[in-house]
Amino acid sequence: MQNYSANTLAFRVSLILAIVLVGLVVVLKYSMGLSIEWTFIVIVTACFFIISFFILRNILYNFIYRRIRLIYKSISNIKEDDKTKQEPFNMHTDMLQQVDHDVTAWAEKSKKEIEQWKHMLQYRKEFVGNVSHELKTPIFNIQGYTLTLLEGGLEDKRINTRYLSKIEKNINRMISIVRDLEAISKLEHGELSLRIIEFNPINLAQDVIENLEERANEKDITLEIVPHYEKAHLVEADPEYIRQVFTNLILNSINYGKEKGHTKIEFFDMDDNLLIEVTDNGIGIAEENILRVFERFYRVDKSRSTQSGGTGLGLAIVKHIIEAHKQTINVRSRIGIGTTLAFTLRKH
Ligand SMILES: Nc1ncnc2c1ncn2[C@@H]1O[C@H](COP(=O)(O)OP(=O)(O)OP(=O)(O)O)[C@@H](O)[C@H]1O
Ligand SMILES: [Mg+2]
Repeated sequence: MQNYSANTLAFRVSLILAIVLVGLVVVLKYSMGLSIEWTFIVIVTACFFIISFFILRNILYNFIYRRIRLIYKSISNIKEDDKTKQEPFNMHTDMLQQVDHDVTAWAEKSKKEIEQWKHMLQYRKEFVGNVSHELKTPIFNIQGYTLTLLEGGLEDKRINTRYLSKIEKNINRMISIVRDLEAISKLEHGELSLRIIEFNPINLAQDVIENLEERANEKDITLEIVPHYEKAHLVEADPEYIRQVFTNLILNSINYGKEKGHTKIEFFDMDDNLLIEVTDNGIGIAEENILRVFERFYRVDKSRSTQSGGTGLGLAIVKHIIEAHKQTINVRSRIGIGTTLAFTLRKH
């Protein structure tokens, strides 16, 4: 917007006024033949109207300007934006348009912020509700076993060690829930800092399998690594987080696998990436539930998952980790046939 100084403006107005008056004198005196007195009266009246118009306009302008400036100042004070970023308020800018523009922008920003807060509030409500729901079962179990032991069970050799080991199992369950909750909360708030290095994912998978062998043996499930390439390939990723990915996926294949089942961890070379697939021949997931398995706290069959100690956080954590590596994960499954979880990692 053009920025005139008050002096320039006054000078230009006076100049135009002088030219108009000289023109008026010439027209009245020579073209219309008016007497000098009447010419003088017409000129004075015209001057009077023009000057009154400018005085009135100035008074009104200042009156409105001062009030709008007050409104503008209040808006500026409310706005949390850095004041130095604001455009200086100028006599000759269109004040109403500027106020309108600022108020609209401010209202839109506030609306967005309110939506975000509502979303956050809903998220917290759900999160707290789910957390207390998940912790309730082990807490009540521990309470039940402890009371039985206190009320004489401690002396009963048939139950005391059995109940104590059940208490320990429930405490371990609480520890794993709290650990998963911490992980998901960090991941969902983007507080994850990856330590990217090069490593061979087959060695890592082998290590995870050795740790989970005992669990697999309980159900007589065999775990097998199948690379589909000759030469060893390294990936660029955070091995600690990828260990968690392998652990959660292989644990799921055991928990939701059949007795005497089979889990394959396959590795495919995809030029820029390695594709890794964990496939079981377990119970499978129905089509209508497939897209929901990555939601936090989602379990297809709540009763079955509770038996196997599931919180519904495992796959949500896995998805966040893979996405933090800017890679993809997806799931294929058929009820009664089995499930495949496939994800990519960037090759070195
Ligand atoms: N390999 C699989 N076969 C069949 N169903 C599966 C498989 N993996 C996951 N699911 C289904 O998806 C749900 C979500 O899995 P997820 O790993 O997120 O949670 P969870 O295993 O129930 O609990 P946890 O937090 O202990 O892992 C499971 O409850 C299960 O119903
Ligand atoms: Mg799981």
